[in-house]
Amino acid sequence: MPAAADSPLRPRAHLGTCRSVAITCISEIGWHDTDLLLADIKAGGGANASQWDKAWHSDNAAGSSSLIDLELLDGTRRKFLLDCGWNEPYMRQRFEESGVAAMLARGEIEFLFLSHEHLDHLWGLQAILRYCPDIAIRVPATFSDRALAFIRGELAAPTHPVAESLIRHTGVVSKTPPGVLVSLYPGCVAVAFDLPVLLGIVGEQSLYFRVRDKGVVCVTGCCHQGVNALADHALDHVADESTLYGLYGGLHIAPFGPLTAEQERLVADLRRYGFRKIVANHCTGESAVRRMVELGYPVVAGSGREGSRAALMPGDGERVVFD
Ligand SMILES: [Fe+2]
Ligand SMILES: [Fe+2]
Repeated sequence: MPAAADSPLRPRAHLGTCRSVAITCISEIGWHDTDLLLADIKAGGGANASQWDKAWHSDNAAGSSSLIDLELLDGTRRKFLLDCGWNEPYMRQRFEESGVAAMLARGEIEFLFLSHEHLDHLWGLQAILRYCPDIAIRVPATFSDRALAFIRGELAAPTHPVAESLIRHTGVVSKTPPGVLVSLYPGCVAVAFDLPVLLGIVGEQSLYFRVRDKGVVCVTGCCHQGVNALADHALDHVADESTLYGLYGGLHIAPFGPLTAEQERLVADLRRYGFRKIVANHCTGESAVRRMVELGYPVVAGSGREGSRAALMPGDGERVVFD
């Protein structure tokens, strides 16, 4: 896995540019029934209690995962995965249907980028190890000991059937330190944010792509650090321009229901970044995406053909290109 830690204070040109980035949503539905998820959270001690100690309805699990297909300036393509979902059988089916399973088996996917430790982004890992047990993995340096033991195959997820033997991960695990720009490829940078997140976890890492002649695309798993923190960091440390080109992923604005006044303000505030292509799904919340559309933001709609929370969110199997 190519990577070089770097100082955020150096000039930005050294981060390079890429020609394009295409992102295919493998699965955007983290869970099927929000009321059931919230009931499980409450029964297990509330939002601050650890996800590892709760009893979850395993049949409510789905998962978030996307395939990143980066095109470098010389035309070569590099593929990696952003997150691996939650429910192993469900994710295995999604990886088979989307062609990711075959890519993993052929060694075409260079590494797995785990945005954060949340169940719906991490606990489907066994579905990937089945095809590629030595895949390189990059995690935020704030990952817990339990999450690292889970990656190694020494600890089962609470929703994993314990009778089934776990596949051991035999590849390299790299850690992204908070606040440091880590160059993965020319024009592709990882940054980790250190903050407490609900369900007793810490930190999230996100991706920035510097697309030639277009600008910066921000790509996120759940964006628990806040969309504004993600976008501000891009402007402060990654972009050459004063606006941003694209936004993709779970934006965690209103994942559980209607917009609050504060969330409404957050959506309105997004205008100042000048995004020209917004692809919002997963934990963004349907109400938040609808508000973006009402405000005239350049939101890319989905079809919901293969599954998604709502048709206006690009869903399973849908591909968006930033070029
Ligand atoms: Fe999520
Ligand atoms: Fe999350």
